Amino acid sequence: MRLTVIGTGYLGATHAACMAELGHEVLGVDVEPDKIAALQSGQVPFYEPGLPELLMRNLANGRLRFTTSYEEAADFGEVHFSCVGTPQRNDGTGADLRYVDAVIESLAPHLRRPTLVVGKSTVPVGTAARLAARLAELSPAGARAELAWNPEFLREGMAVQDTLRPDRLVFGISPEAPHSEQLLREVYATPLAAGVPLVITDLPTAELVKTAANAFLATKISFINAMAEVCEATGADVAQLSASMSYDTRIGGRFLQAGIGFGGGCLPKDIRAFMTRADELGVGEALSFLREVDAINLRRRTRVLTLAEELCGSQLAGRHIAVWGAAFKPDSDDIRDSPALEIAQRLHARGASVSVYDPKAMDNARKRHPELDYAATPLDAAEGADLILHLTEWPEFRALDPHAVAGVVAHPRIIDGRNILDHESWRAAGWTYRALGRP
Ligand code: UDX
Repeated sequence: MRLTVIGTGYLGATHAACMAELGHEVLGVDVEPDKIAALQSGQVPFYEPGLPELLMRNLANGRLRFTTSYEEAADFGEVHFSCVGTPQRNDGTGADLRYVDAVIESLAPHLRRPTLVVGKSTVPVGTAARLAARLAELSPAGARAELAWNPEFLREGMAVQDTLRPDRLVFGISPEAPHSEQLLREVYATPLAAGVPLVITDLPTAELVKTAANAFLATKISFINAMAEVCEATGADVAQLSASMSYDTRIGGRFLQAGIGFGGGCLPKDIRAFMTRADELGVGEALSFLREVDAINLRRRTRVLTLAEELCGSQLAGRHIAVWGAAFKPDSDDIRDSPALEIAQRLHARGASVSVYDPKAMDNARKRHPELDYAATPLDAAEGADLILHLTEWPEFRALDPHAVAGVVAHPRIIDGRNILDHESWRAAGWTYRALGRP
């Protein structure tokens, strides 16, 4: 099929390359010429394992190319995927829909023949119905320009795998879009034939699946982090608590890892936008627990600062602190709402000298926080440190020898913000090892 993918950020660049990999002819569209030039020359402007190879292969075989022209996109595509971002608004907690709206405003006037526009972005419930009406109003094809919703559930670091072989597909189909289900079935023929479960539903349910799923994941993480707070008050061990709970298959162990909590471009802004939308709909009370989920999450960052103060003898000013990790999670160079980087910045604000190392996120971190120092290796960051903070769980940090690290620091003290280092071997090497929610 001939598909366009509009918006070539994380979601769009991955979706475009993966749709080409599935055998479709794909045109990626973005308003930023630099981004398009980079992608067209085979460069992925962010770190995502497996994506550069996929991009190169499909550029070379001619199934994938990029443009900045909406007119060209409208002429080319049978199906148009809208993959633009929905960040948090600058003036509040709701979602900023200007990019989602701009896709329809820019594309629709060029749509002269029957066509399907598919939304993949995470949007407040009700957005799709509004966009469908606007699409029909603006496009010369009128009601034959149909709109469907097909939420994306990809995880950064696993984006290629999650797109080629998702754990489920959700099609939000409206009665005004009679051809949309069949077209989407053709787009996803390969994963569907491989047995990927398909849910066909209405537009609001499809929009809600995404926000509800992210709200659930955020709640699970904050639940175990709330237990960590209780553990800290009682001398109990949250890691053992979590492991013991996880044997109950109704609970499961995933997203039950206590630590400095969730960040990134999705969970934090999605739960806030969800609460804002619920307020607008008059059901704010139903989601009031998400306010606590958000607050528990943010409290964990403050807890690291308190613990750092405790370990450094109450004074952070003038201390040298090594921060291992800047990305919001491993296998990503994304620093959006990164707990690690926020903690680093707050230590600096209190007068500590902070040296950061991350395997992939250094450039992004340096641009956002030029006031911090950046080291070339984890050991360089640790040189002369009064304290090390392990804040993003890259495998590289787990492979370090605690004895070797002890040889370069001023004081062997470490806070494991992800509860994942082998605390016995760190302690055996003479370290004061502290973690959140553990004695
Ligand atoms: C998330 C959803 O998982 C994905 O389905 C959705 O489409 C987009 O948002 P992502 O933002 O890539 O994906 O990150 P995810 O793997 O969900 O991790 C989110 C954050 O939670 C990270 O900061 C991670 O470190 C943290 N986390 C995760 C924990 O603190 N504890 C856990 O047990 C799991």
